[in-house]
Amino acid sequence: MPEKIDPWSSKLEVKNYDKLLKEFGIQDFENMLKRIREPMLTMKRGIVFGHRDFDRVASAMEKKKKFVMLTGLMPSGKFHLGHKMVADEIIYLQERGARTYICVADIEAYNTRNQSLDKLRKTAIEEYLVNYIALGLKPRNCDFYFQSSRSSDPEKANAYYKLIGMVSNRTTMNEMRAIYGELTPGKIMSIFTQVADILHPELPEFEGECPVVVPVGVDQDPHIRLTRDIATRMKGNKEFDFMPPCSFYHEFMPGLKGGKMSSSDPNSYIALTDSPKAAKEKVIKYAFSGGRDTVKEHRERGGNPDIDVSYQMLRFMFEPDDSRLKKIRDDYMSGALLTGELKQFLIEKLTAFLTSHQKKRESAKKQVDKFLKK
Ligand code: TRP
Repeated sequence: MPEKIDPWSSKLEVKNYDKLLKEFGIQDFENMLKRIREPMLTMKRGIVFGHRDFDRVASAMEKKKKFVMLTGLMPSGKFHLGHKMVADEIIYLQERGARTYICVADIEAYNTRNQSLDKLRKTAIEEYLVNYIALGLKPRNCDFYFQSSRSSDPEKANAYYKLIGMVSNRTTMNEMRAIYGELTPGKIMSIFTQVADILHPELPEFEGECPVVVPVGVDQDPHIRLTRDIATRMKGNKEFDFMPPCSFYHEFMPGLKGGKMSSSDPNSYIALTDSPKAAKEKVIKYAFSGGRDTVKEHRERGGNPDIDVSYQMLRFMFEPDDSRLKKIRDDYMSGALLTGELKQFLIEKLTAFLTSHQKKRESAKKQVDKFLKK
């Protein structure tokens, strides 16, 4: 069975990331590591597993040349640890010189999830923006925009909406069906809007020619593929001249019960606004364990960290020290470390993070306006 990717499904679970690389021609990220001076923890640990043309971004970072980081968000519900992975990537790139574009996909959410623009705006600001700021996003060189109102500068706004209107003549219905399967008018509208989101930073009204990198979950790769093809086909066109955008992909952080961390199931995620107490209870009650059924059996045969959600959360973000992580892994596998003790490690890290983050959120709320005035 080929892997299939539906960017609108909330259920995507990838069983085999290597297979995904091969099938969709995504490049292995490992080869990229030596090109990056200070790779992120997730890059070093192989959690960031694939990319398209990240070379161009790596050399822009190295030579301190202009480049853009652009990503988008569907403002749906609570901001959780899965969203934090993308936020960390945004901030990492901003700190390394990226002009930072963050797109609130409110038109997409309106057309595919039928929510009101007012409610979407509120969620985008109170959940996403406030958390981004508390995690370290800076207003300098940051363009946080809504698909429904690109800019108060009419030249910029016109350039963006004109591009949305014009990208469709570089693809066909057959190609779109091959990429996306079943389509609806709402999806088609969202696709062209997203193509323009990704390409528009290179317009002369914005940054002009430079590499654009899009950090996203691999569920968004179909959009990247189509956008890269459209960009290539536009070459030589008098009106537009784009380089195919670059991207990189991380594995999904597992949800508490295994499976996907999903906004639609509160017991699958830890939200950044969950109280430390609530988070602790969720970990104790729901975090899937790779341990054995009895202490005796666990001591004798050891646990499996690869399927253990608490261990994975430490690996994805909460235990930055490689040697400590390795000790946890070894002790868990030998049976020296019990599931309850492993959960306790995670709970301590989570408590410290949530407590300090929630304080930062309070001051972040006061900075929101700096990101919204344009
Ligand atoms: N479709 C994306 C999502 O579901 C949101 C999005 C809109 C996006 N425009 C974008 C993502 C541009 C990356 C780049 O989350």
